[in-house]
Amino acid sequence: PLQSPGLMFRKALNFRYAVGAFNVNNMEMLQGIVEAARALRSPVILQVSAGARKYAGHDYLVKMVEAAATTDVPIALHLDHGADFEICKAAIDGGFNSVMIDGSHHGFEENIRLTRRVVDYADERGVFVEAELGQLAGVEDDVSAEHSVFTDPDQAVEFVHRTGCHSLAVAIGTSHGAYKFKGAARLDFERLSRIHTLMPGYPLVLHGASSVPAALIEEANRYGAKIEDAQGIPEEMLREATTMGVAKINIDTDLRLAAVMALRRAMAGNPAEFDPRKFFGPVRDAIREIVQHKMKNVLGSAGRA
Ligand code: G3H
Ligand code: 13P
Ligand code: NA
Ligand code: ZN
Repeated sequence: PLQSPGLMFRKALNFRYAVGAFNVNNMEMLQGIVEAARALRSPVILQVSAGARKYAGHDYLVKMVEAAATTDVPIALHLDHGADFEICKAAIDGGFNSVMIDGSHHGFEENIRLTRRVVDYADERGVFVEAELGQLAGVEDDVSAEHSVFTDPDQAVEFVHRTGCHSLAVAIGTSHGAYKFKGAARLDFERLSRIHTLMPGYPLVLHGASSVPAALIEEANRYGAKIEDAQGIPEEMLREATTMGVAKINIDTDLRLAAVMALRRAMAGNPAEFDPRKFFGPVRDAIREIVQHKMKNVLGSAGRA
């Protein structure tokens, strides 16, 4: 059975660690994530974007997660970046126990109205709701935010109070993808600390939290990739965030990088091979390895299941 993120986050906030939320699109990557959680006794959130539902199909993803959730470590199934009420409703009706309604591109009042509507529907069904206030830097969806709109702490309090959302994604300088900073990495920890101080004990969420490890990029480039000037969030910054109310950390890009690096390496080394398992197996192994690293050294969730 799935476990509610609410339960996971209460424990995480008490002990100052974060639960990793990893995006899933296919079987091998899902298995790699769950193998890591099982090996390290860590809670984990499997999150599915609209794009993932389109790619793999809602039913395939839910059935695979059901198979994974027979294990005894806590697993939640979360909709990532739900853009409207309808997709949240479809996820809730279709077996997800957690959804994100992302109204961050709307005005404050419209974001509240939309989020409130999803919370009302979800609360009757015992489903957890994450919302977002403020806009991430860089490119989110197809809207390019030249200068990002960071989350206003007082507005965050009002937003949570008026919507009843169960967790809140905040904008403090992170962004999606592999190109997060031009110069030095910088997050607005003063802002995060202020939000946490105003709402102690309330779970905050950090999107765009991949670290884009240089070693991974170098390895991929060695085997034919051309990924230049990529930069992520330094791991020590993520560890710091877990001491300031951040209970959920979203990671997708690092898993993509690890998967494609492993695939390139396996294919380069075995030009005569044509059994796909010889290529997708190493992808699963690479995912398990990087997720274990996150749980142990970044999130602090290892041993908390
Ligand atoms: O925030 C977006 C996640 O990285 C998912 O990306 O919409 O391409 O599946 P996607
Ligand atoms: P990254 O692109 O930094 O992995 O962020 C993922 C994310 O926020 C998914 O919602
Ligand atoms: Na999410
Ligand atoms: Zn995100």
